[in-house]
Amino acid sequence: MTDRPILMFDSGIGGLTVLREARVLMPDRRFVYVADDAGFPYGAWEEPALRERVLALFADLLLRFDPEISVIACNTASTLVMEALRERFPGHPFVGTVPAIKPAAERTRSGLVSVLGTPGTVKRQYTRDLIKQWASKCHVRLVGSDNLAALAETYMRDGFVDEEAVRAETAPCFIEKDGARTDIVVLACTHYPFLVNRMRKTAPWPVDWLDPAEAIARRALSLLAVKQQASAPVTPPERADVAIFTSGKAEFTTRRLMQGFGLSVTDSAAEQSVSFASFA
Ligand code: DGL
Repeated sequence: MTDRPILMFDSGIGGLTVLREARVLMPDRRFVYVADDAGFPYGAWEEPALRERVLALFADLLLRFDPEISVIACNTASTLVMEALRERFPGHPFVGTVPAIKPAAERTRSGLVSVLGTPGTVKRQYTRDLIKQWASKCHVRLVGSDNLAALAETYMRDGFVDEEAVRAETAPCFIEKDGARTDIVVLACTHYPFLVNRMRKTAPWPVDWLDPAEAIARRALSLLAVKQQASAPVTPPERADVAIFTSGKAEFTTRRLMQGFGLSVTDSAAEQSVSFASFA
């Protein structure tokens, strides 16, 4: 196997929910985690500007880290840029993270499904198309949350979250219609699984909270497995996993969090500010 890393990309710490699953499935792989914190939150960005930003970042990241595969562990970016990324960087495998609407439509008993994501993700044509294609027999409510991703960031860094704020953001997911109730909420933002216990606690009734992280990690593994058939036997990674923050200004609590996930924040701040100067 090559020592080329798997690159995980998100606007912030949400991609860690995918990274932790990927580590379980691929303990022998090296990971580079990239948080575009200088652009966080992605939810409110205009589509053309966000597309250009992610493409430009990848032009730099692919050169710098030469990853074997890149996982866009962000629904807000994936629902917008996957096609453009594949077009701009042909030959490089990308795995996206898009709302788990198909599995939700297959599993729901009541036929009432909610998709909880950032305002960007719920307004995307891509998301609407997924509903049309896979869930036309369900009643799908799209719920765009302005604050949950930031609440998840604070919770993971500082250990505190305002439960009433979580309840208020998730409340629109719960519908009662003709004697039936919402039974599945799709977590269509990689930040949200960090708050799922609070969501459960504040929910008006129990639902299935669908987190696609494991499926995303499996998809990455399956692409790598195909590529690895002809390569050398597995050996443990020689170098530590790293995290990059596009702002170049990861604070102490962020570094501590990353450490907990086995990532050291690269302190090549100088190098970083050169590469990402125009993004921070
Ligand atoms: N984690 C990202 C997602 O999956 C979005 C967070 C944000 O930037 O608002 O959509």
